[in-house]
Amino acid sequence: MSSQVEKDILIEQFKAGLEDIPAAVSDICFVDGINSLLVYRGYDVTELAAKATFEEVAYLLWFGKLPNKREYEWFTRQLIQERELPAHVLAIVTMFPGKANPMAALRTAISAMSMYDPDSSDQSSDAIMRKAIRLTARIPTMIGVLERLRTGQQPLASRPDLGHAANYLYMLTGREPEEMQNRAMDLSLILQADHELNASTFAARVTVSTLSDIYAGVVSAIGTLAGPLHGGANEQVMRMLIEIDKLENTESYIKGLFAQKKRVMGFGHRVYKGADPRALVLKKWSQMLGEGYCNSKWWAMSEAIEEVVIKEKGIYPNVDFYNASVLYCLGIPLDMFTPVFASSRIVGWTAHIMEQFADNRLIRPRAIYNGPEGLEYAPIDERS
Ligand code: COA
Repeated sequence: MSSQVEKDILIEQFKAGLEDIPAAVSDICFVDGINSLLVYRGYDVTELAAKATFEEVAYLLWFGKLPNKREYEWFTRQLIQERELPAHVLAIVTMFPGKANPMAALRTAISAMSMYDPDSSDQSSDAIMRKAIRLTARIPTMIGVLERLRTGQQPLASRPDLGHAANYLYMLTGREPEEMQNRAMDLSLILQADHELNASTFAARVTVSTLSDIYAGVVSAIGTLAGPLHGGANEQVMRMLIEIDKLENTESYIKGLFAQKKRVMGFGHRVYKGADPRALVLKKWSQMLGEGYCNSKWWAMSEAIEEVVIKEKGIYPNVDFYNASVLYCLGIPLDMFTPVFASSRIVGWTAHIMEQFADNRLIRPRAIYNGPEGLEYAPIDERS
């Protein structure tokens, strides 16, 4: 085959941003962008958000079925037992600068954790499951530790009497949550636990497709999640709401963004063409939490923004939009929003890593070469 024929084939197949290109066969998660449906292992996520705990959903995504009572008890015990950070990791984290970007700190801390994991070089499926449980249990602890250290406080010990979401809020804010706050945190974590081949999950699968380890996959994923076009959008949404400040300012602010050809963070999605089902659930909780615990103006402003963006652009809010005011009303600091997203998506990342390992083929796409050709090498002192 001539190089031009090969190039023509590649050009024909090319889709910018890999849009709608299938890159894995998966049993984990189904996203129906036309009918606004998100399904984890056969269960509608809206039902899971209403009825399940994060622990049940993690079990479901990893083991492929909802746990029975005995399995659930075993599993929650594992998660509780694995919460504490290794002493060396804690020592490393205490050296981070107080002003460190929390996503950079989390990425670095997870990298450090890999060196102190007793299963670090064990690639067996049992060891990979143990590491997935460890990562999921420890990321909330890590986020709590980072927050306490940078605000000059001693990290809190985890509370084995509290479930995953309640303990998480306790370690992060220093307050034991009320039931409604606990439930809000739980369902926020459930709704973001997986989303098929989003950019960070794809990054994780690419990394482990080289047979690199689970920690390397998760570190790649955290780096990918950090950007404002992906997980970083939730923080930007809340910054925007704070900047707008009053309900009466919303319309002119959003129209101003459009006039400057800027994007409204928390809107649009590569797959959903209409509503994002996660946003519909979070919208309700943004209102309830606002009324119960902080200020309902955030929800009211968000709803007004939604109206303008749909009317002007036909673009709908995604998961990050209403999640921003939910996390804010739970007392989570703005720059911890994206780390909190990571603490939920860790389950999806690791589920996909396990699936990739189970039937691995190196992920290695092609690029269409568009640069100069046939140049001749000139000695350095003859170059212009
Ligand atoms: N605000 C304003 N316009 C938007 C927009 C937004 N949030 N999202 C998409 N658009 C517009 C684009 O300007 C583009 O318009 P054009 O065709 O007139 O140029 C069109 O919609 C398609 O956008 P595109 O960037 O090609 O879509 P994509 O599938 O590549 O991008 C996102 C998807 C999520 C990256 C994009 O919607 C976005 O940037 N959203 C804001 C960031 C965000 O909330 N990210 C979290 C995702 S869960």
